[in-house]
Amino acid sequence: MIGIVGSGKPFIKSSPARARPALPEARGAVKDRRLMTSHTFVPLGPLRGTIRVPGDKSISHRALMFAGLAVGRSRITGLLEGEDVLATAAAMRQFGATISRGEDGVWIVDGVGVGSLLEPKTALDMGNSGTSTRLLMGLVASHAITATFIGDASLSARPMQRVIDPLSQMGASFEASAGGTLPLMLRGACPAVPITYRLPVASAQVKSAVLLAGLNTPGITRVIEPVPTRDHTERMLGGFGARLDVGEENGETVIAIHGEADLRPCDVTVPGDPSSAAFFMVAATLVPGSDLTIENVGLNPTRAGLLHVLRQMGADISEVNPREVGGEPVADLRVRHAQLSGVEVDPAIAPAMIDEFPVLFVAAALASGTTRTTRLEELRVKESDRLAAMAAALTAAGAQVVEHADGLTIRGTGGDPLRGTGKAQVKSLLDHRICMSMAVAGLVSEGGVEVDDISPINTSFPTFMALLAEAAA
Ligand code: S3P
Repeated sequence: MIGIVGSGKPFIKSSPARARPALPEARGAVKDRRLMTSHTFVPLGPLRGTIRVPGDKSISHRALMFAGLAVGRSRITGLLEGEDVLATAAAMRQFGATISRGEDGVWIVDGVGVGSLLEPKTALDMGNSGTSTRLLMGLVASHAITATFIGDASLSARPMQRVIDPLSQMGASFEASAGGTLPLMLRGACPAVPITYRLPVASAQVKSAVLLAGLNTPGITRVIEPVPTRDHTERMLGGFGARLDVGEENGETVIAIHGEADLRPCDVTVPGDPSSAAFFMVAATLVPGSDLTIENVGLNPTRAGLLHVLRQMGADISEVNPREVGGEPVADLRVRHAQLSGVEVDPAIAPAMIDEFPVLFVAAALASGTTRTTRLEELRVKESDRLAAMAAALTAAGAQVVEHADGLTIRGTGGDPLRGTGKAQVKSLLDHRICMSMAVAGLVSEGGVEVDDISPINTSFPTFMALLAEAAA
């Protein structure tokens, strides 16, 4: 363990008398509480009928955070009740918000107010959740509190320097584990210093961390975004009454947040998660005879990349009843089986489908011809190294995959089923999206696909197995 003291503006001591809590000794300090559960996914027949995927993970995190910062009572309908979002709820409680779930499934949040976060009494256990960690680091950075963030082995290997850098410039100070990872201790600065920060990596988490720090910073904090990423923070903060201007300079988006904000409570309805719908979009496309409607899918343009690429490959997906839910565009998607053709995926679309590449690789493995993806280095720092994990998993299932530094090249079967994993097992590496992508591969295999541990699915999609059984019944 080495200490990394944030560079940039000098550390502003908010509470000099306070003793510094010790960092947990080891990385991956959180023991995995879940039992490893292996599962073999086998062909189940066509996917038919109508299903509804759970609430959007990104929007659920933000709804809990912003409601927890408002003064008064907010209600959240359709919240994703997966482990990642529950980690955010637990942290917001430690910061002083009161959060409960009504019997009707609506979540009630009484916020603590911007500027009034309490210091957590114990380390914040972020489990597997990068979004919880990076966004909450932003919140803490401009409050006069100290917080320690810990997580599971996957999260403890992920880069946090990308948020440490801008938050240090705002005055926060850090002690992180080697390479800028968790366990990590953050001492917030109050008052923090407003900055203008140009994102060096296309990341909605980094953007949001800086904007959230800006909420309790005097003056105006700006983020320059050369490549658009999901804009849920911007959309929702406006609804909670923050003053936020989004403009354009030299072809780049500039987001300015006015600090020392007062957030007012808000009732939020969370649309269905397009990243969860993705598994069913691909499954229904690949399994002959399928005709599946997925209701209430969020189609924010910053998230809809997979839909475009699947259509480019020949998928038959129609949008029914387009409408708006919680300030986000939504539609029901009717997906019918279609034979896909391989494509060159335009790297410019990557941020709009950054979480959907694992399942796109499965679609590519069944397409006719070759699919090439490039400039996907970011996939190497997700819950797992998703280029390496999917190359290994699909190869084990009989697909033809070549891994490059920045992408995969996949030669599809032309619609023939994959061989299956036989005696081998796919390693899911604490990554929910590897589990569910390879579940889809199992549906189009001869001998089934065995995944060593499917418990990570609970981080984002606890009803996945039940919905799969329902759609294939
Ligand atoms: C997310 C942003 C993306 C995405 C993650 C959720 C968010 O991460 O992969 O699942 O809610 O802001 P990056 O910001 O690292 O691209």
